[in-house]
Amino acid sequence: MNDLLLRAARGEQVERPPVWLMRQAGRILPQYKALRGKLSGFKELVETPELACEVTIQPIDELNVDAAIIFSDILVVPEVMGLTYEMIPGKGPMFPMTIQEGSDVENLLSGEEAAVQLDYVYKALQLTKKELNGRVPLIGFSGAPWTIMAYMLEGSGSKTFSKARRFLYRQPVASKVLLQKITDTTIEYLKRQIKAGADLVQIFDSWAGILGPEQYETFSLYYIRQICEAITEVPVTVFAKNAWFALESVGKLDCNVVGIDWNTTPEIARSKVGSSKTLQGNLDPCLLYSEPDVIRAATQEMVAGFGQQQYIVNLGHGVYPDTPLDHVKVFVNEVLSMER
Ligand code: CP3
Repeated sequence: MNDLLLRAARGEQVERPPVWLMRQAGRILPQYKALRGKLSGFKELVETPELACEVTIQPIDELNVDAAIIFSDILVVPEVMGLTYEMIPGKGPMFPMTIQEGSDVENLLSGEEAAVQLDYVYKALQLTKKELNGRVPLIGFSGAPWTIMAYMLEGSGSKTFSKARRFLYRQPVASKVLLQKITDTTIEYLKRQIKAGADLVQIFDSWAGILGPEQYETFSLYYIRQICEAITEVPVTVFAKNAWFALESVGKLDCNVVGIDWNTTPEIARSKVGSSKTLQGNLDPCLLYSEPDVIRAATQEMVAGFGQQQYIVNLGHGVYPDTPLDHVKVFVNEVLSMER
């Protein structure tokens, strides 16, 4: 029914720009926190299709956003390749085992062998697609190979990601073998997500901005390009956070939508990416702590900057967990009211 997101992604005319929020599932909704409190942990939620489906639909009911994003995590991919993760409450992800040396890469599974193990994600997508019944499109996702590699080396978040970046310098060959294995797995994984009902897929390169321009080309874009070329069934969004230096190259990828963070203005983003792609972003998530009038004005200004066509309204990164829910609603409602 509501296909605004897909039309905007393909560059077709829309009555108003679609709006959704990165990390809208989980994090901010009291319904999510209540459900999460009854469970053993994050992984139970991710691995139980009925629960993942419920949490995916919560923001559609509560916020009226124009898209659902499947409740899962980018870290399910390293897990099926052989490095299991734990989600530590209040801290974030932790990998008990990490890649220490080049030879560790050889033992990892990849491609179909790894992707078939993510059956719980495909089931969650199938169930959600059925439950949504066409209300809004369903977004599938994965991490970009470089961002996944960074977690496999570091074992957690990091201020400098120096273990991961050191590996690129000291083990360039093993790095490329690893990145190719993640790429092969991701292509299989996204194709299966699409078969299960994903209407669009987004690639999150959350740690794009810690690489220099040349390294970014060699160790990240080269692999994202392969994914974009392999996914022909649905529109693809590439979000390379903080990689303003690579926006021109990202604009040349075989994708439909380019995600923009708040370090870039709409004007710069459009001039670097070019006219053929839809842009998505880029309100500073912190702006949602402001008073409602400030949120409304900033949203209007942002939409005026990007223009109402070839544009998807979003934040410049995921919504922060303690954002007041009514402020999120002010943001979404401001966009919903733009319908001509
Ligand atoms: O967008 C959505 O709402 C869909 C679900 C989603 C989650 N993670 C659920 C989640 C998505 C798209 C992700 C992507 C993800 N996961 C990224 C890329 C996007 C980004 O934010 O840059 C990254 C880097 C991760 C890794 C990750 N997972 C971290 C660093 C953390 C801890 C901090 C946090 O909350 O983000 C997670 C845990 C996580 N993933 C939670 C949720 C709802 C919180 C877990 C809880 O309820 O305890």
